[in-house]
Amino acid sequence: IRIPDVIQKKRDKCELEPEEIRFFIREMVKGCIEPVQLGAMLMAWYFNGMSPKELTVLIDSMTHSGETLSWPEEWKTLLVDKHSTGGVGDKVSLVLAPALAACGLKVPMVSGRGLSFTGGTLDKLEAIPGFNVSLSNDQMRECLKDVGCFIAGQTKSLVPADRIMYAARDVTATVDNISLATASIISKKAAEKISALVLDVKVGRAAFFKNLNDARLVAKSLVEAARDQGINTTAVLTTMDTPIGMAIGNSLEVMEVIETLRGKGPPDLVELVKIQGGLLLNLVRRMDVLKGQQLIEETLHNGAALSCFEKMLVHQNVDMQLAADLCSGKYQLAKAKYITPIPSPLSGRVLDIDALACGSVSGALGAARARESDEILPAVGIELLVTVGQSIAQGQPWANLHHEGQSVASDLLIKLKNAVVVGDVPNPTLVSSTRI
Ligand code: URA
Repeated sequence: IRIPDVIQKKRDKCELEPEEIRFFIREMVKGCIEPVQLGAMLMAWYFNGMSPKELTVLIDSMTHSGETLSWPEEWKTLLVDKHSTGGVGDKVSLVLAPALAACGLKVPMVSGRGLSFTGGTLDKLEAIPGFNVSLSNDQMRECLKDVGCFIAGQTKSLVPADRIMYAARDVTATVDNISLATASIISKKAAEKISALVLDVKVGRAAFFKNLNDARLVAKSLVEAARDQGINTTAVLTTMDTPIGMAIGNSLEVMEVIETLRGKGPPDLVELVKIQGGLLLNLVRRMDVLKGQQLIEETLHNGAALSCFEKMLVHQNVDMQLAADLCSGKYQLAKAKYITPIPSPLSGRVLDIDALACGSVSGALGAARARESDEILPAVGIELLVTVGQSIAQGQPWANLHHEGQSVASDLLIKLKNAVVVGDVPNPTLVSSTRI
């Protein structure tokens, strides 16, 4: 088999043989594929799609491109996870993993970095000094035993194929493809060897899949692929038009996560955590969904989820004192050098805040990557000062832009200024979700 022939076959819209897909993934993981060849292959898949058989083989070869995890038999029914297709200000995983651990479940969460305008769970956690996302299998097991959750990344030994393809998709405009997203997400979940999974499929202008029809197709593809792997799976479609919570950008989001774990989170974020936690408790414990939501909420108010988060930080290499101070609110992550308030253009009610504009401005200032080798600037981001539905006066800041360079390019400032709509008509729905 020759790599250029495999690319050509997909370019010409033919179905690849299982052995061709397996060969491509093996060679890629060995480092024997040029970045341009990977880019070309991703683009060929993007435009010409994949048959169900190709997708199944791709998921299987990605899952087994490294080791898969294994757990003691007695944990079997407790192993759960959630995954989102990506949003702006989406820090649900950082709150939900410790909340589920506090309910006695085991959450071996393998996450990703930022993709395009969306933030990545791993980039957020790396804003905490010392946090290690590359855990050995022994460290993962210890963490699940002692804490009940960890949040780690794909590594050289855990779904390495997704580590490589994920980074390449981020910089080749091949993220918003149903089959590639399904293979990326489900290969990680299959390698975790979990029993139950809830998928948060984002829909809206700041989601990769912008309309309900596409989002339903993604959800269907994800749920079918996960169930094929023997994982008891459900999905919710949730709106992704305005940012989740009040913080966008890695350090700012971590600080908001801690507030949420201290029982003081923004209502839309708490709602998303409760919805997904309730569904998982329903799947594994057959608990009434509303009862499950209540249990999750309790862990945010009684300190149990915060305590799991703090222990997870320590297990993942954060200094014990720093973890304690961060969780007690004594220590704040470093702020960006400059904070520029963004004034409201009018007096009235905030009708809209465009999450796509917020995500792209924050990404362009350093919260995301344009090239694989780009460093993330953790403190860069946007702090919202109002929510949709709230009243605001002309000139009153609706957001603070946190940036490291003294000046901000005028096109970015204009984009951000245009991200808010102020008017007279109330329009207050923050999260709408549909279980499918
Ligand atoms: N999350 C992933 O892990 N992969 C995707 O492709 C999108 C979101």
